Amino acid sequence: ADRPSIAVIAGDGIGPEVVAEGLKVLDAVAGADAFDKVHYDLGADRWLRTGEVLPESEMESLARHDAILLGAVGAAPGDTRIPSGILERGLLLKLRFAFDHYVNLRPSKLFPGVPTPLAPHVTEGKEIDFVVVREGTEGLYAGNGGKLRAGTVHEVATEVSVNTAYGVERVVRFAFEHATKRRHKVTLVHKHNVLVNAGGLWRRIFESVAAEYPQVETDYLHIDAATIFMATDPARFDVLVTDNLFGDIITDLAGAVTGGIGLAASGNLNPSGAFPSMFEPVHGSAPDIAGQQKADPTAAILSVAMMLEHLGRRDEAARIVAAVNADITGRGDQVRTTSEVGDAIAARLA
Ligand code: NAD
Ligand code: IPM
Ligand code: MN
Repeated sequence: ADRPSIAVIAGDGIGPEVVAEGLKVLDAVAGADAFDKVHYDLGADRWLRTGEVLPESEMESLARHDAILLGAVGAAPGDTRIPSGILERGLLLKLRFAFDHYVNLRPSKLFPGVPTPLAPHVTEGKEIDFVVVREGTEGLYAGNGGKLRAGTVHEVATEVSVNTAYGVERVVRFAFEHATKRRHKVTLVHKHNVLVNAGGLWRRIFESVAAEYPQVETDYLHIDAATIFMATDPARFDVLVTDNLFGDIITDLAGAVTGGIGLAASGNLNPSGAFPSMFEPVHGSAPDIAGQQKADPTAAILSVAMMLEHLGRRDEAARIVAAVNADITGRGDQVRTTSEVGDAIAARLA
């Protein structure tokens, strides 16, 4: 059979730095020839050079890979040469929407010995190990909105959150199914006390799917209260399911409380397999530390593990997770460069 083919979009800022380490670890666990890796020149540089974000021909070619590994895209907030959102919407969100990545899977686990602001709340035997199932193709990200009387004192700007019964049900169902392979608990996070239309739909669908899973415990939290428990008692969570924007926000917080955003991996999944799924760190291009070998590549490395798992290569995925686990548990206060971290994890796999 042909080798599986991976599209690599290293992107901007720390993206290429962390992706290099992800690929180093991939080669260490699977062998350098196990995958065909095709690099795509996409992101800020390409846009500045050619004015192109993601041409249709490249979309078509991306669709033919078995998976996509992405670093990060996006300019520094102060970079006025690149309009805000052009890369995020035109590249990242375009891929998530076009490839129907309706499950954005974002696991968090606090490894022993990892520094966390939660330290006072971490108790023996109360494991912090949860996963956010973030809806990836709807909500406030749908691009449904506009502006009236732009630039005047009477300007009105709207972004309308799109929530379809079809879209909500499939992601809620995924969350319940996923919980049956874990600790059998799903928490819906929304804000149905204010967002009565969308929240009402999520709540009704959540309850009807829950009825099919009597062995799964359910819980509900409004998003604001969810951030409290994420910061004070994340051990209460197993699977959380939520919409696109709430899921974006709560997963940065989840990363921060479980050892830092540099450890948080994610998968944008198309469970049907009709399109390639895409794996990427939760973090962005981190312009404040880019080019300095300061970024933690662990999130990118764990994203490679999620990619291998998705491709059915469980054993290699588990070996990476074990190597990462051993590495981060022994980190203490040592300061290492991005490539030193990748080297150390790769060495454990050799
Ligand atoms: P960010 O995640 O890039 O950075 C937030 C903070 O976390 C910064 O202080 C950064 O230095 C730190 N950080 C991030 N990754 C780290 C790592 N691996 N190791 C150590 N520290 C790390 O978020 P931001 O500053 O809001 O966004 C910067 C740019 O990235 C923006 O253009 C944004 O749109 C884009 N972005 C892209 C993605 C993506 O491509 N998936 C995700 C988030 C943000
Ligand atoms: C993420 C990012 C993206 C999002 C942006 C860059 C479009 O923050 O992957 O979490 O909001 O989904
Ligand atoms: Mn985000």
